[in-house]
Amino acid sequence: MMADIEIAAKWVAEARSVVVLTGAGMSAESSVPTFRDAQTGLWERFEPEHLATEDAFRADPSLVWTWYVWRSMLIDTAIPNAGHTAIGAWQKHLAVNNGSLTVATQNVDDLHERGGADDVLHLHGSLHNYRCLECSRPAAFDPRAAGIRAEREFDEDNILEPVACPHCATGILRPGVVWFGEMLPQDAFSSAIHALQQADLVLVVGTSGLVQPAASLPVIGQEAGAKLVEMNPVHTDLSNTADIYLKSTAAAMMPQLLDELLA
Ligand code: APR
Repeated sequence: MMADIEIAAKWVAEARSVVVLTGAGMSAESSVPTFRDAQTGLWERFEPEHLATEDAFRADPSLVWTWYVWRSMLIDTAIPNAGHTAIGAWQKHLAVNNGSLTVATQNVDDLHERGGADDVLHLHGSLHNYRCLECSRPAAFDPRAAGIRAEREFDEDNILEPVACPHCATGILRPGVVWFGEMLPQDAFSSAIHALQQADLVLVVGTSGLVQPAASLPVIGQEAGAKLVEMNPVHTDLSNTADIYLKSTAAAMMPQLLDELLA
């Protein structure tokens, strides 16, 4: 009787059209807290869900802006983990062997890209993109160029002022992430759906599957005929639906899964 990891590794070796769907757990071993990890410091008393909304931003622009700038600087100091680099290597391997691998992530960090993956679909936007809250035009903002140091500790008396839009006279910059209640970027979402409909293997890594519509994506792939594998140290609602549930972390399990393929 083959162990689940052996069966999954065999599916990986045979797969030609792969979709990897990731959530915050993918970046946990890069020391980026997940959404449902307890927050620390100034942010300890806030639920992410209560900060990640346009209403919260309009109610207290400085607080929410500071939270996002703090997170973007935390991510800049984070290092892609073995899970990110394994996925990047897998994508490159398939690209030169008549296959394809699409990464569709709920994460707003750039760790997949820094781990070697190309054309990453950011279903919930990106922390490194900014646009005007009023005129919606994109604008560049670099905290370091603005003199904000990564190790700066924020507290009630030490938060950032929002940045004025360089294009219009009235707006302030907002992060290019999808806030609760907002639509997902249609091009990223429809590209993910298209890839799932062609996939022979869908791997879901590090998501609690609590937030729609991203949470519906894995089953779309399975219903279109793909084998569905979930990797998460904690059982989720998807774990019983997946063809194989691997109870492990991304950095520990991803390299094992690719052993046979990349050996
Ligand atoms: N490896 C793999 N999975 C992990 C690891 C790890 N090292 N550490 C934690 N996990 C799992 C947790 O068990 C949990 O199921 O990652 C998942 C993280 O879940 P959430 O924090 O809910 O993050 P996510 O599923 O990405 O949240 C989805 O919710 O708040 C919104 O827009 C936000 O994109 C986010 C969305």
